[in-house]
Amino acid sequence: MSILISNIKKLVQVETKPVRFRAGKKMSELPFIENAFLLIKNGKIDSFGEMNNLKPEILNQKQVIDATGKMIFPSFCDSHTHLVYPASREIEYVDKIKGLSYEEIAKRGGGILNTAKKMKETTVAELVDSAMLRLEEIIKLGTGAVEVKSGYGLDTEQELKMLYTIRKLKEISPLTIKATLLGAHSIPLEYRGRQHEYVDLVINEMIPMVAGEELADYLDVFCDKGFFTVEDTERILMAGMKFGLRPKIHANELDYSGGIQVGVKYNALSVDHLEYTGNDEIEVLKNSETMPTILPGAAFFLGMPYAPARKMIDAGLPVALASDFNPGSSPSGNMQLILSMACILYKLTPEEAINAVTLNSAYAMGVEEELGSIAVGKKANVFITKEIPSMEFMPYAYGSNKVETVILDGKIL
Ligand code: NIG
Ligand code: FE
Repeated sequence: MSILISNIKKLVQVETKPVRFRAGKKMSELPFIENAFLLIKNGKIDSFGEMNNLKPEILNQKQVIDATGKMIFPSFCDSHTHLVYPASREIEYVDKIKGLSYEEIAKRGGGILNTAKKMKETTVAELVDSAMLRLEEIIKLGTGAVEVKSGYGLDTEQELKMLYTIRKLKEISPLTIKATLLGAHSIPLEYRGRQHEYVDLVINEMIPMVAGEELADYLDVFCDKGFFTVEDTERILMAGMKFGLRPKIHANELDYSGGIQVGVKYNALSVDHLEYTGNDEIEVLKNSETMPTILPGAAFFLGMPYAPARKMIDAGLPVALASDFNPGSSPSGNMQLILSMACILYKLTPEEAINAVTLNSAYAMGVEEELGSIAVGKKANVFITKEIPSMEFMPYAYGSNKVETVILDGKIL
């Protein structure tokens, strides 16, 4: 099975010597080839280059796509989502419009707990069906890899149910999927006032069972004001380490919570949200292996302060961007919209923003060796755009789908 794509107006994010991620000034580098070809074989990127250098024997491919006027990008990697959930929550959204804060809604037993209640009444088959619809939607919008968290179960049985759902999605979806255990997403009402006992449950029951069945790739904790403390987080991350579960944590969304510091201390793959990031947090992130990940959809939807992305990049840090697709704080998995928000609201240049949603977000979900750029040997997860005038048009034309053809695992969908 091979596909040749010819006459590509611009082949974007090409690498001859793949890097793990781009940081600081290097985030402005976005290598490309104009008037290019791309050859895909057996699901992988076989070769690419300028049309002038296309060997005649390559032209004899069975399947040739003419991409005149169109561009090719590596598929987006969405390194942070909660897209397995039983129902939307637009009523709360109206409450928010009327002035209630995220924390006030959470205190009233709304928010995450509202979804957790519905979770109990929903079967794995129902969860798979609704999540597949969401996956189909994001595939059409250019996403090729997605991380999906549990965290709406909040007891062992329900958390396992969510992770079985994600395991099924891994089997049946053409997307590359990573699963994360987020048992410590919120404190169930019956544990209010004895939060440490819920943390014990996560440590003594959830983590061993999930690890025993190899249901999770990563371990998450919502380390923030009103949710889990730094101490709770340390205990959970230490327990996860015993089973080889690397952290990816929710940090500093609601306050300077210490979440970034504890994440770096336990070598988290990423710390995510980061609305409250100051100089101390930036210092801690420097020279770490932890990818700072910003979730513009959540800040936009909740009307929260925007994370200081510009300051972080100017300080030499890498930044990744993800959708946070979930029913409460970001009911969209549209990574093209995230790209536009990155430029408009966070003042990233188009080059920086594209690095943040491809290579850097691939790193943030542990798939940078197989995805995130156009490089020989990487998985052929790419999209062909409609006819567009320039690379910059991608973030510029916000709200419309610029993706025309999606190729995942070397297959045209
Ligand atoms: O990433 N911050 C915590 N958790 C989710 C919200 C989930 C929900 O409200 O359902 C988030 O924004
Ligand atoms: Fe989240």
